[in-house]
Amino acid sequence: MHLPTVLSVVFAAAGVTAQLNDLAVAAGLKYFGTCGSEGNINSDTTYRNILNNKSEFGQLVPENGQKWDATEPSRGQFTYSSGDIVAGVAKQNGQLLRCHTLVWYSQLPSWGNVTVSGGSWNRSTLQSVIETHINNVMGHYKGQCYAWDVVNEAVNDDGTWRPSVFLSTFNTDYFAISFRAAKAADPNTKLYYNDYNLEYNQAKTDRAVELVKIVQAAGAPIDGVGFQGHLIVGSTPSRSALATTLKRFTALGVEVAYTELDIRHSSVPASSSALVTQGNDFANVVGSCLDVAGCVGVTIWGFTDKYSWIPQTFPGQGDALLYNSNFGKKPAWTSVSSVLAAKATNPPPAQTTTLATITTAPPAQTTTTSRPAVSTTSAAAPGGAQQTRWGQCGGIGWSGPTACQSPWTCQVLNPYYSQCL
Ligand code: XIL
Repeated sequence: MHLPTVLSVVFAAAGVTAQLNDLAVAAGLKYFGTCGSEGNINSDTTYRNILNNKSEFGQLVPENGQKWDATEPSRGQFTYSSGDIVAGVAKQNGQLLRCHTLVWYSQLPSWGNVTVSGGSWNRSTLQSVIETHINNVMGHYKGQCYAWDVVNEAVNDDGTWRPSVFLSTFNTDYFAISFRAAKAADPNTKLYYNDYNLEYNQAKTDRAVELVKIVQAAGAPIDGVGFQGHLIVGSTPSRSALATTLKRFTALGVEVAYTELDIRHSSVPASSSALVTQGNDFANVVGSCLDVAGCVGVTIWGFTDKYSWIPQTFPGQGDALLYNSNFGKKPAWTSVSSVLAAKATNPPPAQTTTLATITTAPPAQTTTTSRPAVSTTSAAAPGGAQQTRWGQCGGIGWSGPTACQSPWTCQVLNPYYSQCL
């Protein structure tokens, strides 16, 4: 095990500040990633430079370029000019690519007077349309995608099946049809169901569990469930509640990931305390992934508030990402980097001694925002163990050291997470 070497490379390679993907990998995830906005990649150099930084983002996903309306604007006519933009950036930088998305009720094309969403299809004709679409698009990206979102957003928030041309034609049979076609088109990519508001563990989550079971019972392949993670500051579930929800899916034998994480303020501009709450919410989401063995990574839905889908979709709301509109790192960036660093520097007991020798500069504190109420403890942990800088030192469910090596003190970031800072 070469973890100490890995970590020192992580911190040294990143200069003053360790970056999110490097920390995520050191913490045991496959990646920390972002979607890339096709329109801004070639027009905004600052945006592009950050997107290019594999230490920060080890995985990219096209925000819109691989959707049905972009890839098959006319029936049987396929075009990849938009989808290839982000795929090309990922390839150039050696970043993983998540691919998104194939069968979705939204962003469907209009095909003259025969639309996918409004055409008069029967099972045979629509199955052929689905299979042709999946076969061509997945064939074009074959070998490039870590994962594909095969079916997207098939469930309503109240737990009923979401109406679509697919549901009205096939009832739920379109799930297995789509996953089977995907497996045939690219057998070596992970096949995901992807949806939002699964995080709240209510009726919608129950139905998504059922969806996985339906696909499995049909003997069709499904490898993962994507939690989109379009959340709201102050209403984000706790780290342990989120982990419990993720485990409902890993218990079915599929992996999970946060695929489109953003946590929006209900009104903007956000106060400095709201920015801190946002940071805690982000830390809880990322922390929950770290806490679940089958959670492979976290993807944010854009990284800068300059380019986010939120203000158009949720008027009056926004500032949901880790960088502000001027590309400055927000408190949430620091929270995410801290929760990743805590896991990365807090390996199982056998490695603690070696890792304790690591000294590293803290992630840059780019704001003067005050932290939430801070409490400190100097109580010695059982056996006298003391946590290293950045390590976890408390929180609900925590049974490790609660004292920090000098001169660090144990600071309460939220009820679930205290850290030596
Ligand atoms: C959004 C994009 O961010 C916007 O640019 C576009 O106008 C609409 O779609 N769930 C998904 C994503 O699966 O594809 C959506 O992306 C956001 C919600």
